[in-house]
Amino acid sequence: MKVGFVGWRGMVGSVLMQRMQQENDFAAIEPVFFSTSQVGGDAPLGAGTLKDANDLAALKQLDVVVTCQGGDYTKAVHGPLRQSGWQGYWIDAASTLRMESDAVIILDPVNRQVIDKALAAGGKDFIGGNCTVSLMLMALGGLFRADLVKWVSSMTYQAASGAGAPNMRELLAQMGGLHASVAGLLADPASAILEIDRQVTERLRDGSLPQKEFGFPLAGSLLPWIDREVEDGQSREEWKGFVETNKILGTREPIPVDGLCVRVGAMRCHSQALTIKLKKDVPLADIEALLAADNDWVKLVPNTKADSLAQLTPAAVSGSLAVPVGRVRKMKMGPKFVSAFTCGDQLLWGAAEPLRRMVRILLE
Ligand code: HSE
Repeated sequence: MKVGFVGWRGMVGSVLMQRMQQENDFAAIEPVFFSTSQVGGDAPLGAGTLKDANDLAALKQLDVVVTCQGGDYTKAVHGPLRQSGWQGYWIDAASTLRMESDAVIILDPVNRQVIDKALAAGGKDFIGGNCTVSLMLMALGGLFRADLVKWVSSMTYQAASGAGAPNMRELLAQMGGLHASVAGLLADPASAILEIDRQVTERLRDGSLPQKEFGFPLAGSLLPWIDREVEDGQSREEWKGFVETNKILGTREPIPVDGLCVRVGAMRCHSQALTIKLKKDVPLADIEALLAADNDWVKLVPNTKADSLAQLTPAAVSGSLAVPVGRVRKMKMGPKFVSAFTCGDQLLWGAAEPLRRMVRILLE
């Protein structure tokens, strides 16, 4: 199987390459590497030279295209490639094609049956989901599979990586800038905390911190809006929660999913505080058992202070495929209301991992 890779040098693409090497995926395929800027240069893994990512004739030779190049590339190339008669599989991290009727959003531990059905019906476009949605479904898959979920409210704490590599750098530069502005006072144990705070707040507001990417300081603050405005006061990130969850699950009766999406100063792990209304009162132990058993990556964290703080944070989860879910308890609203908190690496299950697994599925 000839598999072309586009956008393999960017952040998501690099994570994809790492994971494919770890899992020895390249041994099972014939990789062809494409570039938009360094055509003719050496391809990685000794795979010849870099081909032109905009050359339809070169792309037409492939059985599969895997792209992490971003939505603009998808918009420019996917349509013309299909119109030229190409019948290969298009596997994409960008959101451009997600909601197209003939595209499937891939998250196989949760929706393998949706993927298999599409493959049997001749489906060719397989698109990675929004990171927050994918991570929520990896964590709560057990409850959805048991058809217990009436609705979910997801309040998110999203990492800088979701906005892009330059944003991660900017977050760190802001952190450094804040520290530098009070370093002298901090070094003196006798200095007044309110004076330190005053100077930090002044720095947050005076426009001198690097903020080209985010537009505002994220370090020492948070940003309660992600992506553009859509309708009904929702952000596009919030809109995706409902539409993508239901598309991934292939629900006949859509399950309401809504909440507020917030950017916080984490590097690459998205966290979510979930309020779940169940269709019926289910004992807590059964809920925990369903969550824990759903897939090989979800990890139930006991609802204790020690376990939550040790296992349910971006610091603990970063770089790991495990998707811990904890803080599971019945809420004061009534026996059908359950809380949960989950944290997952948005570059792994939130972006790269479903793509490499889709290549594997095509090889089965
Ligand atoms: N839209 C997400 C975010 C990233 O901004 O965090 C990837 O789905």
